[in-house]
Amino acid sequence: MRYAPITERVADLGAAKWAVHERARALQAAGEAVIMLSIGEPDVPTPPELIEVAAAAMRAGRTGYSNGRGEGRLLDALAARYTARRGRPFGRENFVAFPGTQTALFAVLSALVGPGDEVLTGDPMYATYEGVIRATGATVAPVPLRPEAGFRMQAADLEARIGPRARVLLLNSPHNPTGAVLGAAEIAALGAVARAHDLWILADEVYEDLVFDAGRFVSPLAFPDLAERVVACASISKSHAAAGFRSGWCAGPAEFCARLLPLAETMLFGNQPFIADMTAAALGAPDLVAGPMRARLAGRAHRLAAALDGVEGLRTNRPEAGMFVLLDVSATGLDGAGFAEALLAVERVAVMPGASFGAALGAWVRIGLTATDAEIDEAARRIRRFAARARAD
Ligand SMILES: Cc1ncc(COP(=O)(O)O)c(C=O)c1O
Repeated sequence: MRYAPITERVADLGAAKWAVHERARALQAAGEAVIMLSIGEPDVPTPPELIEVAAAAMRAGRTGYSNGRGEGRLLDALAARYTARRGRPFGRENFVAFPGTQTALFAVLSALVGPGDEVLTGDPMYATYEGVIRATGATVAPVPLRPEAGFRMQAADLEARIGPRARVLLLNSPHNPTGAVLGAAEIAALGAVARAHDLWILADEVYEDLVFDAGRFVSPLAFPDLAERVVACASISKSHAAAGFRSGWCAGPAEFCARLLPLAETMLFGNQPFIADMTAAALGAPDLVAGPMRARLAGRAHRLAAALDGVEGLRTNRPEAGMFVLLDVSATGLDGAGFAEALLAVERVAVMPGASFGAALGAWVRIGLTATDAEIDEAARRIRRFAARARAD
């Protein structure tokens, strides 16, 4: 049978990246004890009070069709949040609700680029970016994120990568997998490059509430001179431990949102009122989950880095946010994939090969922090033991 080119463009992007994780799950299913540090899901359940809001809304009949942009109550909660946090006014016209950041990224990119265009994004990058860019027919123009710059994108590196077909700069701060958070001066410099080359800036801010030093987060949406070219996407997946609710949005210029709306309607035919009610309640309680979670994650990042720092052959990158620590294993004589595979086989600890997030991390592994402190400590012991063995081989 014949298929459309989009299926070719996104084929072969998924499975190989998750091979170690899948093997770890298979071991678990076979009854083996594995310390799972390969993914980062919030380490607590969705708060019962938010579940109750959704359940009460369903019981109250909030189960019919909605409109394409989102329920008024949700849009008002978003407008209040962004006005307060970004220091300039936002209204209902500045938002479109989507089932999660991922769908929002897909729709926004579909509205901004097509075949032949280029989307600039940091390398390493979140595992789905390549697919979401390629799905549109555009190509990825990777901008190196250098460890010596704390994995924060530098304007000169962006400038050097811009070609005539560049249309969008996809920024991710706080960044997965590096945990890097862009500062105001860095965003201003990147923004100046975007203005000079007439690029859109698409900001994935799904980890906004998980910055360890909460005051450190800065959004390009807060820069008035970028307002016409910035679209941000986020959700309650991480901030409220509610990934399964699939509730996110994009925030951007009214004109852009008006253009996007028919696309959103075509894709979704409206949102889910009971999820919108729950999300509005969640936005009113920003620290219900995120406050304690970022304290736990910061503590574990520190614990893990302290346990691995100074171990011969290993070098940790201390994250400023998020759910992961990166570990450079090149001095063990193994690359990241070899290290992750053998660590699982020998020590039953599952981590992700850095290469799953781009070739730039070929010598690294990504370690998730959403396990208990005791598991993190035990994993650090096993990683130390394994690194010593690898160096001796
Ligand atoms: C950087 C980044 N963007 C987007 C997503 C997807 O988020 P959502 O559940 O809101 O679709 C994730 C999930 O891990 C992520 O890490």
